[in-house]
Amino acid sequence: MKIGLFPGSFDPITNGHLDVILRAKELFDKLIVGVAVNDSKTSTSMFTVEERQKLLEEVCKGIPKVEILIFDGLLLEAMKKYKAVAVVRGLRAISDFEYEFQMAMMNREICNDYETVFLMASHSYSFVSSRMIKELVRFGGDVSPFVPPVVLEALKKHKHI
Ligand code: PNS
Repeated sequence: MKIGLFPGSFDPITNGHLDVILRAKELFDKLIVGVAVNDSKTSTSMFTVEERQKLLEEVCKGIPKVEILIFDGLLLEAMKKYKAVAVVRGLRAISDFEYEFQMAMMNREICNDYETVFLMASHSYSFVSSRMIKELVRFGGDVSPFVPPVVLEALKKHKHI
């Protein structure tokens, strides 16, 4: 059984994440979407990890082979725990590359048992990020083209932030 792990902050899940999930699940027998407790952006989070997990679950409801989990600590420990063979990450633009390169290399340096699989973002989502979505929402912008409907509703409730 080949298990892939797609880790991230998912604060919140965007249509870009969903696109990666739908494409990555075809490469594995099971795809675990892992919401990281220890991401570097915790101080600027809009949703709690539990809220992010719930949103992911609602968005991915009915998608076969996809499981949503929260993981604490190092990604490599989660890889080991869930017997995943590859880390899945989406790549949008050159600006993503440096961070992703460093992370993949550091993970490989610490543990050489796993591959990182990068999926190039689909053209229509190549500029979509959770950070931009949150900024747009804060200033009253329309984010409906970029997030699933349940996320849009959740964002409206957080509009005051
Ligand atoms: O969606 P993001 O914020 O770009 O995802 C980053 C994430 C969660 C994949 C990364 O911060 C991570 O793997 N965090 C877990 C802790 C860890 O293993 N850090 C070392 C990475 S070299």
